[in-house]
Amino acid sequence: MYTIKTLNAISPVGLAKLNNKQFDVAVDTDAPDGILVRSADMLNTAFNDNLLAIARAGAGVNNIPLDRCSEQGIVVFNTPGANANAVAELVIGMLIAGSRNVAVAAQWCQGLTGDPAMAKTVEKGKKQFVGNEIKGKTLGVIGLGAIGSRVANCAIELGMEVYGYDPYISIDAAWNLSSQVRHCVNLNDMLPLCDYITIHVPYLPTTKDTINAQTLALCKDGVKILNYARGELVNTEALLEAMETGKVSGYMTDFPSEAILGKPGIVCTPHLGASTPEAEDNCAVMAAKELSDYLKNGNIIHS
Ligand code: MLT
Repeated sequence: MYTIKTLNAISPVGLAKLNNKQFDVAVDTDAPDGILVRSADMLNTAFNDNLLAIARAGAGVNNIPLDRCSEQGIVVFNTPGANANAVAELVIGMLIAGSRNVAVAAQWCQGLTGDPAMAKTVEKGKKQFVGNEIKGKTLGVIGLGAIGSRVANCAIELGMEVYGYDPYISIDAAWNLSSQVRHCVNLNDMLPLCDYITIHVPYLPTTKDTINAQTLALCKDGVKILNYARGELVNTEALLEAMETGKVSGYMTDFPSEAILGKPGIVCTPHLGASTPEAEDNCAVMAAKELSDYLKNGNIIHS
């Protein structure tokens, strides 16, 4: 019997994969053989000696101390692709919402309650929140993995001109990518072409601050940036400065921080990218299968 500890609420559809005589799923055990985790920060967690594997129900593994895991021989799984559709749909939604000032206009409408001259005030708002269509505009996608390639394909369908940059594109992602997406060998060549930039790379020491003062200087004036990957990929100081000068006209992100909240042109959501029951089920099922196959058979698979 293997003991599995869950550190976050994990979808019951996934837990059902472990619901047999070989697994005991518990929240408060001190000596699990395996851990199932979503976003809980494990960086300072002490591991028991018999811990064999950790499975993250999500793509990013930056909440797990990978160095310590490899020192202690603990195998770490993630679930690449399992929540890609959920994230890509949010990105496309926010691409349109950001272009049409949806968040700020909706918030403004809340203030109309009880306005005796509502019809007139609405006319004012109609002028104040004029937006842009995305059809015919250029989108630059940094990172063409499961999420980035989906975003790129959807944007093509919406009539955008799409550029992509990814030095490590997988064969799978390349096959699934629309032939209309134009590859750029250098990020610096792509940035000046884009009305919108969306970033879909993991957070690693090498990707920290991918959007920084130097890369922003190469961008078109008035560019809009979307970040639904990790907050650390965009340098906050450089971003705010670029928003002051009008170099960046909008920033849509899933990673709120004290420095950016309430700033004009910035729209934050609370890390909602993978927060759909469909994505939670997919991730939990994949993570549970990875964990059970490893514990029972020693197989390291991505299902
Ligand atoms: C991911 O890394 O795939 C997401 O951040 C998952 C999540 O929101 O839990």
